[in-house]
Amino acid sequence: MYIDTHAHLLDKKLPKIEEVIGNYLSVGVEKVINMACCLETARECVKMAEKYESVYFGSGIHPQDIKDVTDKDLEEIAKIATHEKCVCIGEIGLDYYWDKSYKEIQKEKLIKELEIAKALKLPFSFHSREATLDTLTLLKDNREKIEFGGVLHCFSGSKDTAREVLNLGLKLGLGGTATFKNAKYIKEVLDYAPLDSIVVETDCPYLAPEPFRGSVNEPKNIPIIVRFIASQKNTDEIEVAKLIYKNSCEVFKKLV
Ligand code: NI
Repeated sequence: MYIDTHAHLLDKKLPKIEEVIGNYLSVGVEKVINMACCLETARECVKMAEKYESVYFGSGIHPQDIKDVTDKDLEEIAKIATHEKCVCIGEIGLDYYWDKSYKEIQKEKLIKELEIAKALKLPFSFHSREATLDTLTLLKDNREKIEFGGVLHCFSGSKDTAREVLNLGLKLGLGGTATFKNAKYIKEVLDYAPLDSIVVETDCPYLAPEPFRGSVNEPKNIPIIVRFIASQKNTDEIEVAKLIYKNSCEVFKKLV
């Protein structure tokens, strides 16, 4: 019934993994995509996916961890991504919030990660923070490398940004931030974006949705996000859940 398309199950802030899995399976979250942030977490993601049936994963290096990454590291990321339960390259992207000092390195290595996605016919999960313009420019300039699609994860942009993302053939990943009381953009984005352009995610353990904002987030909160979207769209919650599930399987083809 539900898929969490972007989670960090290795994070120590979460309760024991068996408890987390039990919690989400009991509310109908059937599959979770566990995102790697670096080479080490990518290796750990493989082990977790091999141990737990409902856990899939992304192989990739987060912009915050990309600075000292070598071509050899990226080769291993690509090798890990050939695993049967690796459904995407992720999470990858641009982050100018923490450190603006190596923007060019971020872009250069991001392009290499997009090349891996293309070579393996995989989509990607893209993190963009304080980097909207560069994100859109880079994706447009590398259109031929993104033909297998992807998701702009934790989307919190404007309607105009959403339009550009959809024009690139990508989907919007909506999570807890969409439910925040100060998320004025989301009404406009949801008025504009058709339901078939949306997938949902928790990005747990961060960004718990309202009314749990500030607490440790878990994939069990996915139904809250779906319910929020259904209410904004004035549509039946079950129908929205089914459609979003279908969208997730369309982007992340190795989930099925
Ligand atoms: Ni993330």
